[in-house]
Amino acid sequence: MRTIPGIAGRRVLTLYYSRSGHTRTVATQIHGLVGGDLVEIRTVEPYPDDYDALVARNAAQQRSDYKPPLLTPVDNPAEYDLIFIGSPLWNVRLTPPVRSFLSSHDLSGKIIAPFVTYIVERPGAVAAGYRRIMPGCHHSGWRRGPG
Ligand SMILES: Cc1cc2nc3c(=O)[nH]c(=O)nc-3n(C[C@H](O)[C@H](O)[C@H](O)COP(=O)(O)O)c2cc1C
Repeated sequence: MRTIPGIAGRRVLTLYYSRSGHTRTVATQIHGLVGGDLVEIRTVEPYPDDYDALVARNAAQQRSDYKPPLLTPVDNPAEYDLIFIGSPLWNVRLTPPVRSFLSSHDLSGKIIAPFVTYIVERPGAVAAGYRRIMPGCHHSGWRRGPG
């Protein structure tokens, strides 16, 4: 593992939701660099395999701000100092599973390093979304990864 400035001595968690694997790949790479724990956010009820049904389900959940129940084994995220949180971009926003996780844990005071994977380049609204849902956290800035 490489030594990365700012990581030494911090308890690090990398959390992510991924449906088709891209965000998992990035999360695994981050975890390989920073160490700590790696946790996948999973929903109790899986999303549909059919793309149109998935798009419709997501649109309905985002419209109603639905927070899907999760099967995620993070008992106490407050034990970590630095939390990387990854989500695919869905309809230009965070996925409902990531919103569900964030709204059910108090991460005030933590350093949050969010990352998103997407097809087209419009992640700006997501940064605002993260700040809204986690107002008491220290948010790292955004950098564009290799495309
Ligand atoms: C329901 C749905 C909505 C999406 N909306 C967007 C979007 O608004 N903008 C975008 O660039 N990509 C969008 N995508 C593409 C995903 O963000 C992209 O493929 C992502 O890397 C998938 O991550 P995953 O493989 O970890 O699930 C969407 C994908 C799905 C399934």
